[in-house]
Amino acid sequence: LNNGLGLTPPMGWNSWNFFGCNINETVIFETASALVFTGLADLGYNYVNIDDCWAELERDEDGNLVPRKSTFPSGIKALADHIHGLGLKLGIYSDAGFYTCQKQPGSLGYEMQDAQTFANWEVDYLKYDNCFNDKSKPEIRYPVMRNALNSTSRQIFYSICEWGRDDPAKWAGQVGNSWRTTGDIVDKWSSMVKLADENDKWADFAGPGGWNDPDMLEVGNGGMTVEEYRSHFSVWALMKAPLLIGCDIRDLKPETFEILSNEEVIGVNQDPLGVQGRRVKKGSWLRSKLQVWSGPLSGGRTVVLLWNRGLFAANIKATWEDLGLSSGTPVIVRDLWKHETWEGNSVDEIEARVHGRASEMFILTPQTTTQ
Ligand code: GLA
Repeated sequence: LNNGLGLTPPMGWNSWNFFGCNINETVIFETASALVFTGLADLGYNYVNIDDCWAELERDEDGNLVPRKSTFPSGIKALADHIHGLGLKLGIYSDAGFYTCQKQPGSLGYEMQDAQTFANWEVDYLKYDNCFNDKSKPEIRYPVMRNALNSTSRQIFYSICEWGRDDPAKWAGQVGNSWRTTGDIVDKWSSMVKLADENDKWADFAGPGGWNDPDMLEVGNGGMTVEEYRSHFSVWALMKAPLLIGCDIRDLKPETFEILSNEEVIGVNQDPLGVQGRRVKKGSWLRSKLQVWSGPLSGGRTVVLLWNRGLFAANIKATWEDLGLSSGTPVIVRDLWKHETWEGNSVDEIEARVHGRASEMFILTPQTTTQ
């Protein structure tokens, strides 16, 4: 969507994956502070996004959405002011139906009024869900809220959440800044892998201003090993997915922080070229668990993920042909997790030993003159 936002994928935090409906303003205030004092905000994580369950179950007598008094007594405007004061942005959640998935009022039929409410509160991001709708096509319902947001004088990132039902990649580029391509993520390896594959199909449609969204990060929530979370974060970064942290960052384990704060991997996600990396090699069926994912970066560089989905360690090789590089091109290889540069140049392939259910991630920088 050409509204000046989302020129690189959004980064931040969202309440849903860890807290579900158990949210309140204290959690949001503390999370915003934690983003700042952990240094995550400086690395680009600047959206603090409230998901479902922030509103009263009834609108007020004028039809306005009302923050839930028991859990958000200060109101959303006060929250926004505080969050802006920290140099961060505030996101909120509604639904293109009669109710949200957790039964607070939806915005269908109230688009202008709700968009104005969000703008008055100085909200910066809207996630717009698809529960309890009137069965009309998302292509019809989602542009109504886009137009309503555009009619306010506020720039609001518009995140479409219709779970990939109506092939949003095909139409949402003009409607939103991101669109879910999948159902909800579950904090399990199998779910993460499945969503990566589903999202991969739509790679051609992503770019600055509009991103495929395979759902939010589960890194740190406990259902995967550290190595598995590293693959999750690596492939989300490579696919130019929104990097929305989904754990409790007030209580970050060092290994979770190490993953989320990897500046080199974040740099891949935020690369200005904005081309979604994709699976380039699956191998024959016997070796289909040994995969190469790759994509172009600015400056003629290439990102490569050697991804072992099997249980046992194996060597994975990517040739220049797999990567679309001309044979014989000398490159410098940078390992984004070990933070090391390989000695000498590679000229037609790279290969690495990759543990089971793990991955290795590299940036290849072509050298103009052979050394
Ligand atoms: C849907 C969305 C989730 C989350 C919940 C909240 O399932 O896909 O991301 O927002 O609703 O109820």
